[in-house]
Amino acid sequence: TSTLLWGGRFTESMDGLMVEFNESLPFDKVLYKADIQGSITFAKALCQLNLISENELAQILQGLASVEKEWDQGNFVIKPNIDEDIHTANERRLAELIGSSIAGKLHTGRSRNEQIATDMRLWARGRLAELAAVMKELLGVCAARAKLDIDVVMPGYTHMQRAQPIRFSHWLLSHATFIMGDLKRLEGVQGRIELCPLGVGALAGNPFGIDRDFLASDLGFSAVHPNSLAAVADRDFVVEILQWSSLMMAHLSRLSEDLIIYSTAEFGFVCVADAYSTGSSLMPQKKNPDSLELIRGKAGRVMGQASGFLSTIKSLPTAYNKDLQESVEPLLDCVKTSFHSLRITLGVLDTLKVNANRMKSALTADMLATDVADYLVMKGVPFRETHHMAGSVVRKAEELGVSIAEVSLADLKQISPHFDNDIAQVFDFEKSVERRSAQGGTSKASVLAQISSIEAFLAKQ
Ligand code: ARG
Repeated sequence: TSTLLWGGRFTESMDGLMVEFNESLPFDKVLYKADIQGSITFAKALCQLNLISENELAQILQGLASVEKEWDQGNFVIKPNIDEDIHTANERRLAELIGSSIAGKLHTGRSRNEQIATDMRLWARGRLAELAAVMKELLGVCAARAKLDIDVVMPGYTHMQRAQPIRFSHWLLSHATFIMGDLKRLEGVQGRIELCPLGVGALAGNPFGIDRDFLASDLGFSAVHPNSLAAVADRDFVVEILQWSSLMMAHLSRLSEDLIIYSTAEFGFVCVADAYSTGSSLMPQKKNPDSLELIRGKAGRVMGQASGFLSTIKSLPTAYNKDLQESVEPLLDCVKTSFHSLRITLGVLDTLKVNANRMKSALTADMLATDVADYLVMKGVPFRETHHMAGSVVRKAEELGVSIAEVSLADLKQISPHFDNDIAQVFDFEKSVERRSAQGGTSKASVLAQISSIEAFLAKQ
């Protein structure tokens, strides 16, 4: 018979490529700690049932601690063709260390189906906490940066056309607002991952009356997974993490896109630090914002993994199917990509050079056309009419080849008798941003209030 863990009924060995095709250890070995943690808890529950003695439990726990140490220290020796996945590798090693007569009892009533589902949740729980932490750090950098550059006024765009003057800080906080949304959604995902699959067997349940409440609480889960068939089949938490990553990466990608454009020589609004740029092997003058381009590129990869894995599960029959092993790699990859992308974004923003003069010199009076319309509104003219009148001012300026600030009062009065000398104060970018003082607007007070609310949120954490 086969030497494999499940080899009892097999007479022939596996095809060589099939061995490789089947094994998950090359990637699921990162779950080793979670797998050992699950085994520790499971062994304790077996002892409660007298399926193993106190003495056997002690030996198992000691053996598991040694296996964990080998992984920690990087000297766990993988047995090719035998160690199929992290569960079989750990069990094989445990048997070598404490003898198979005791180690062989650990898997009583247990299936790898419940193990992998448990391991992945435990592992993901830790990574989600790290993601939340780096997101808070990033929000802190956004708030600090916004405060530092509060007086910088720049052109605001819609359709990538110059629209109205805004504060640079206001632009930055618009991106922070999306990141805050991602953080709140992450908290939702963190709550829903807390269901313990352990103790459900391969599909039908545990026949020894294992205490699932104990298993759940010992592993720090808030509840047991309520159905054994669902518990082994459930990768909704993976889908949620992948979809969460997709949206979060879409946000980082949009921020990156803005910064890539703003860092071109044509804009020159910002300069990405050398630490986050690379050069060209051919063109000596080049400094490219590769950090931001990689984030934009990786967003696509994460989205592909999210839709790919959803396709993987959509037609699966009930309970465990090996297709589910395909949940591991996208999970590992998306979490890593998300974490690195957040860290890189943080670094880019922290070290970004902001060119206030370039932003200021990109402001043009036509961006105050709305302010001209608003001026007439204050004189009692209905906005729908003032919009037209301000449009006429723009047309007149184009005709004369001057800026709208240079159209004479006489010409303005031809357009509307409501124009007066006080129109001069409308053509002031600083005053324009300060007029947007309602909540969420671009005035200094509004932007400072946004900063304070981020700071208050972070202080509560
Ligand atoms: N490596 C497997 C996975 O990641 C573990 C579960 C294997 N279960 C089985 N019945 N073959 O899904």
